Amino acid sequence: MCGIVGFVGNKKAAPVLLEGLQRLEYRGYDSAGIAVIKNGSIEIKKTIERISALKEATDNGQTVDGEIGIGHTRWATHGAPCKRNAHPHMGFKSRFAVVHNGIIENYIELKDELVALGVNFKSETDTEVVAHLMELYYEGDVFNALAKTISRLKGSYSLGIICREHPETLYAVRHFSPLIVGVGVGNNYIASDVTALVSHTKNVLYLEDGEIAVITANKVDLFTADGEKKEREPSFVSWSIDAAEKGGYDHFMMKEIKEQPDVIAKTFEPRIKDGKVFFEGLNLTDEKLKSINKIIITACGSAYHTGVVAKYVFEELLRIPTEVDLASEFRYRNPIVDEHTLVIIISQSGETADTLAALREAKNRGAHILSIVNVVGSSIAKASDDVIYTWAGPEIAVATTKAYSAQLIVLYLFGLYAAERLGSASSDTITAILSEIKQLPEKVKKLFEMEESIKKIAKKHHRMGSVFFIGRNIDYGVAMEGSLKLKEISYINSEAYAAGELKHGTISLIEEGRMVIALSAYDSLQDKMMSNIKEVKSRGAFVLATATEGNKAIEKEADQVLYLPKTHPLLLASVEVIPLQMLSYYIALYNGCDIDKPRNLAKSVTVE
Ligand code: F6R
Repeated sequence: MCGIVGFVGNKKAAPVLLEGLQRLEYRGYDSAGIAVIKNGSIEIKKTIERISALKEATDNGQTVDGEIGIGHTRWATHGAPCKRNAHPHMGFKSRFAVVHNGIIENYIELKDELVALGVNFKSETDTEVVAHLMELYYEGDVFNALAKTISRLKGSYSLGIICREHPETLYAVRHFSPLIVGVGVGNNYIASDVTALVSHTKNVLYLEDGEIAVITANKVDLFTADGEKKEREPSFVSWSIDAAEKGGYDHFMMKEIKEQPDVIAKTFEPRIKDGKVFFEGLNLTDEKLKSINKIIITACGSAYHTGVVAKYVFEELLRIPTEVDLASEFRYRNPIVDEHTLVIIISQSGETADTLAALREAKNRGAHILSIVNVVGSSIAKASDDVIYTWAGPEIAVATTKAYSAQLIVLYLFGLYAAERLGSASSDTITAILSEIKQLPEKVKKLFEMEESIKKIAKKHHRMGSVFFIGRNIDYGVAMEGSLKLKEISYINSEAYAAGELKHGTISLIEEGRMVIALSAYDSLQDKMMSNIKEVKSRGAFVLATATEGNKAIEKEADQVLYLPKTHPLLLASVEVIPLQMLSYYIALYNGCDIDKPRNLAKSVTVE
């Protein structure tokens, strides 16, 4: 969603800000801007085009002088995407410039109050109230004005603020919206995520909720809003800048698809020792685990889809009832959750607003919260009782691929870990699944050999009007992900259906030439899938099926078959999703879509 960058140091700020904003483009945005202080005044540049337009207009930032500034990519929530609403916003005395992520929930009330005092608003944003409140409360001390301003705000926000009367200091605040300080030598930075900083410094301070950072070129001080000083050493980011660049691929999405064998290996290798799964530092004791009588998995989008797969895995291995719920629904019902419930939260970004709210709801009801997160120091990671990181590295393409795969691995490992402790699966079963997990990187690599044939299918069928993905059991879970992947990047309407459910209504939509992708790799249900394929074929559908290697029977029914390497049935999703990711990629490519940044989508959905 929106992105923040900020810089103060001994070189020109604008080039640093523009580079940082470009690295945040993947989060999705509709406008952008920077503000830089030079000779006691604030210069603002905005665009409703791409950051590259701002770069062109300023000769890569070189025509904007000044060594301190803030920048922002906006994803409209309050007010249309246009220059007027793009950040940074200035206070009514042009003394302060502000960038903001999150939502000021009481902005209407604050706006009314400011308007009554004669303040003239230039935008429709909630953010502008912050800039004006800063002006209102300023009596020569920025920190005091900031402390008073934030005491008036309700909602979630991270802020970057500069003041033309204090051109040596950058101010930052975090309140339920991520913000990081990058600590350099003679140059310091702020950003809403590490990717914007990592080319400059790997030493970062993850701000905590309620903290204010006061940053000059040579110093970073952290305070509570009451002015109490806080001491904390920076953390070291192990990602290299290559991880945030395309490395020869045309799109991040394909690069990330191809990183999956490595990501899978990195996620399981450190967690398997002496034939057993091991997680460092879990607070979930064996005693607590034994007291669990229900598991609820809650997440959004693709992360939710990994939960759908995990339900099959957990119920098989643990024999504990497992519910999967969309985080946006979970938070608005009256869920049955108590201290005997284990709530598993899944999120790549660790910042998804609905998922975070579901976490808080479950925590208030006494559940033990285990989260599976990719971003270290994220809000979800911080709010959980236990965190298992996916270590997928930065995922830049808006459509997730490698984070989905890493989430599956953590879920399998957790299932095996808990099964061993609970004695709910035999050691032979656990050993057999672990041995299959170790083979997944090679199997995924082998699937890349299919790329050329998938490309041909995509070329031939990329104009498909709409598509059905059907499957049973884990194949159904993968169908949901395949369908989402296709629609989000190619804008082709698609729907995932439990194959047995088709005839209860949806089959009326099957007609001559309709594409049906029949996921049929869950071998024990293949006969049932064959019947479903016959049903749609007899109504004119074109059927592209998946099946495990060696299963030739399916060729009699399907028009085309994608063969998958055999694996343990519970791990099926890890191989089956790969050709579907590649298929979506090529269909989007042939349709000329903006693959890494699909329209209307944001990488990190930090609003409801
Ligand atoms: C789809 C996709 C989204 C995310 C969802 C949750 O490709 O990426 O559906 O899975 O927005 O995001 P996180 O995992 O960051 O909570």
